[in-house]
Amino acid sequence: MTSAAPRPIQIAPSVLPADFSKLAEECIALQEAGVDRIQWDVMDGQFVPNLTFGPDVIAACRPHVTIPFEAHLMVNTPEVLLERWVEAGCNLLLVHAESTVHLHRCLEQVRQAGAGAAVALNPSTPVSAVEHVLDLVEMVLVMTVNPGFGGQDYISTMEPKIAELRALIVERELDVDIEVDGGIGPATIAGATAAGANVLVAGSALYRDPDGLGHAVADLRKRAEAAQGAGS
Ligand code: DX5
Repeated sequence: MTSAAPRPIQIAPSVLPADFSKLAEECIALQEAGVDRIQWDVMDGQFVPNLTFGPDVIAACRPHVTIPFEAHLMVNTPEVLLERWVEAGCNLLLVHAESTVHLHRCLEQVRQAGAGAAVALNPSTPVSAVEHVLDLVEMVLVMTVNPGFGGQDYISTMEPKIAELRALIVERELDVDIEVDGGIGPATIAGATAAGANVLVAGSALYRDPDGLGHAVADLRKRAEAAQGAGS
């Protein structure tokens, strides 16, 4: 795929708002709702002020669905458990640029462990922080909230940053997706997509849709594809 062509829209739910007492059933419901992958928000209570799940929880859910899993590693020292996320069944690991001194080596370790590598940027972190690792990743996550919790307001000032990243990817003719995460819903998905994102993480917006997960996923996908079409 040439990097200048619009990249396929993907809807990636966060399981953060899901019922943690029945995560396997929640994954099955998401798969049946038509999502493209599932994002696991891994939090260590240090890198972000919240604590969620470890690799064993993800491994327990893995056999119940076939869609890809990605682990959003909001953790300090991501190198420590790197292989455990892959063994748990994650196809892609997202490492925060701010979470390790040796980002380049960490992303190489992810690839050597057999998973796809992606890098995540907190809202205050500039695109320049990843320019020297773009050749190692298949996706860059631009956070549109400060990480740690679901249900926060979308930070629209990230849209120029998304556009800057997209321009860099196109300029270098790289095959790299742009993911956004945080406050993505019917009112915000068009702005993020028009700016250049093609993988959209949503949590609250999916679970609060009165017409259910299937409707929410289809609606977000339709809005994103319309915005991408309008921008191309
Ligand atoms: C923040 C989390 C959330 C979650 C989605 O650390 O990463 O962004 O995935 O949250 P919503 O979609 O509810 O804003």
